[in-house]
Amino acid sequence: MSSIYGRIAGWGHYTPEKVLTNFDLEQMVDTSNEWIVQRSGIRERRIAQAGETTSTMAVNAGRSALEKAGLSPADLDLIIVATSTPDYHAPAVSSLVQDQLGAVGCPAFVVETGCTGWVYGLSIAYQFIQTGTYENILVIGVELLSRFVNWKDRSTCVLFGDAAGAAVIQATEKPCGLEGFELGSDGSQGEAIILPAGGSARPSPKEPPGSDGHYIRMNGREVFKFATRTVGASAERVLQKSGMTLNDIDWIIPHQANLRIIQAASKMMDVPLERFIINLERYGNTSAATIPVALSECLTSGQIQPTDRLLLASFGAGLTWATAIIQPNHSADHATTES
Ligand code: UT7
Repeated sequence: MSSIYGRIAGWGHYTPEKVLTNFDLEQMVDTSNEWIVQRSGIRERRIAQAGETTSTMAVNAGRSALEKAGLSPADLDLIIVATSTPDYHAPAVSSLVQDQLGAVGCPAFVVETGCTGWVYGLSIAYQFIQTGTYENILVIGVELLSRFVNWKDRSTCVLFGDAAGAAVIQATEKPCGLEGFELGSDGSQGEAIILPAGGSARPSPKEPPGSDGHYIRMNGREVFKFATRTVGASAERVLQKSGMTLNDIDWIIPHQANLRIIQAASKMMDVPLERFIINLERYGNTSAATIPVALSECLTSGQIQPTDRLLLASFGAGLTWATAIIQPNHSADHATTES
């Protein structure tokens, strides 16, 4: 029996129209453009409008990816939505997305591992493809963080933004797709990024009115140290397991949390910063959406060719990490053309 691979047949992203700059934030909290740029590299982020939700943003990105792939929602065998900011606790936002897309009866589930969610979801999608179980899988990374951020807390509100990115993974007999990956979790550091209230440990009805338990809290320094420790080490392990070196990698797409973390990874891996995809100055940290948005932008602009070999490096809440080496497609032809 011949092997089955997964190619990225389509991609898309959606970012809300409303731009919130560092200068806007200067009017809201005790901060400065200079501090935010120096400490994080972020200059502006997108904020969802009233009426937009996580599912509507996900559907926008998902539709673009399907269109690019030349597929209709009925062609989908599975929908995976990576997010930590769903519309509701129940039903799962993946079912809302399935319904809004019109993918009648299509299985759908959520991956909720924070910023690593899309790379976790992508690895799961490739397993279903490689085993011959499914042919077309839509993997969406989406976050509407602006509704879970305390806009009075300068240590978090300047960092996050809203966005959605998506890719359709399609079965093919030609070699490409996932060439190695590593997923990891260290829950002992879970408190470093936490949204404490609203779950079974601290149910919403028992929270005092106006409690800040409903907002994201982060120990930035701890996460920073974790990220700089983890990204390079995990990449090294995945490369080694896959029989590759960094010379085999065309582009690194890191999770877009902080420019200084990416600079540290560049130094540690001895790879020039020019080979890292960086867009955080425009969107801030959009958690599970950062990598699919960056991938979609770069495939659309042609900066990344479908046959390039990519290292995806993510880390975040959990604390978790997820690293993957992928070649998006076996041919540089138009995404929809199997040649
Ligand atoms: O995607 C999830 C993963 N998350 C991350 O990867 C985040 C990782 N961490 C970071 O990116 C950085 O730690 C931050 C950008 C969050 C913070 O940078 P830092 O260099 O670690 O700053 P800090 O937290 O050590 O704070 C330094 C100072 C403090 O003042 P004092 O105590 O030195 O007087 C803060 O109160 O900066 C102050 N500060 C601010 N000042 C102006 C914190 N936030 C702000 C702000 N504007 N927005």
